Amino acid sequence: MNYNKKSVESVDVKGKRVLCRCDFNVPTKEGKITSDKRIVAALPTIQYLVEHGAKVILCSHMGKVKVDWDPALSLKVVADRLSELLGKEVIMAKDVVGEDAKAKAAALKDGDVMLLENVRYMKGETKNDPELSKELASMADIFVNDAFGTAHRAHASTAGVADYLPAVCGYLVEKEVSIMGKALADPTRPFVAILGGAKVSDKLNVINNLLEKVDTLIIGGGMAFTFLAAKGYSVGKSLLDTEKIDYCKDMMAKAEEKGVKLLLPIDTVVAASFPNPIDGPIEVKTVDADKIPDDMEGLDIGEKTRALFAEAVKSAKTVVWNGPMGVFENPTLAKGTIAVAQALADADAVTIVGGGDSAAACEQLGFADKITHISTGGGASLEFLEGLELPGIACLEDK
Ligand code: 3PG
Repeated sequence: MNYNKKSVESVDVKGKRVLCRCDFNVPTKEGKITSDKRIVAALPTIQYLVEHGAKVILCSHMGKVKVDWDPALSLKVVADRLSELLGKEVIMAKDVVGEDAKAKAAALKDGDVMLLENVRYMKGETKNDPELSKELASMADIFVNDAFGTAHRAHASTAGVADYLPAVCGYLVEKEVSIMGKALADPTRPFVAILGGAKVSDKLNVINNLLEKVDTLIIGGGMAFTFLAAKGYSVGKSLLDTEKIDYCKDMMAKAEEKGVKLLLPIDTVVAASFPNPIDGPIEVKTVDADKIPDDMEGLDIGEKTRALFAEAVKSAKTVVWNGPMGVFENPTLAKGTIAVAQALADADAVTIVGGGDSAAACEQLGFADKITHISTGGGASLEFLEGLELPGIACLEDK
């Protein structure tokens, strides 16, 4: 896997039309953006292009397009927010590679910025249709991929277009790859990884790959119960991936063989049922991990486990975290996730949060500025941790 790619600084962008793929897949509620983190993260590349006299054509997807040209998924909200952040007009195209986009792209002056409509309005996008890639490429002279969050997708605007234009990465992709790449390839030790989230099956390859690299692997969240079951514990009504019990046994054996310390919860917060609504009131108690009552389910790590995990993080020099420790949307069940976020914030280490729910948790809990790097990628950062080649980066020119 070669992530040593040419960056935007290695090409002359002055007067050139630059198609820049960003990940503007931002959450919205009632037509308003609820987190502009991904837009802010794209600013350094866009500003560089503007300052260096490029004619900037931005593109992105947003949401899951199920209805053709669903107006609720128009990128106009992003253009408006981006325009506020840049302090200049962002010209919004009415289509992706249609007449309006092409006319507006042709009329751009040096330093202008325009945004194409949601690329997933085009059926060819997710199919990586070469016809769409060619259409996109026909509007520009250079392709810059800065969409780290979408780099695990081989789509027309993330990878296909690179077949038809000189293709380099933007600052966000460069930063994500260099921080996470260094952590995986050459970490300052001790290197501790913390994995959480609901299912073991979502993280099979991440566990396997990290066991090759870390000194300590911590497993919490829903996925820990399958490991506890693999140890022979009864886990009551807790989340259990029955088919993956043998896999967990293999991973425990692998950890032992590699001399990796594998830390599992030693106590757990249990309740009679999952909270409904998710943030509603809930009655809980804490039990040892081998004493989960048959009629209860584990929904967060207990106090002794929080201390155990925090202690491991304290002595680390590199920490990677992906996945919450419990149902953190519920204040009663957020203590484990808060404790891990706090431990990372206090650590004298390079701390990396691998996107998705754990990134959202760090932000909601106010720890974001104490973490070395919070990835803008959910699925992309997970695939990166798996050691997979990300097509949106593999397609770019090598240095
Ligand atoms: C994400 O939010 O993980 C990326 O924007 C990719 O979105 P997707 O899962 O719809 O491809």
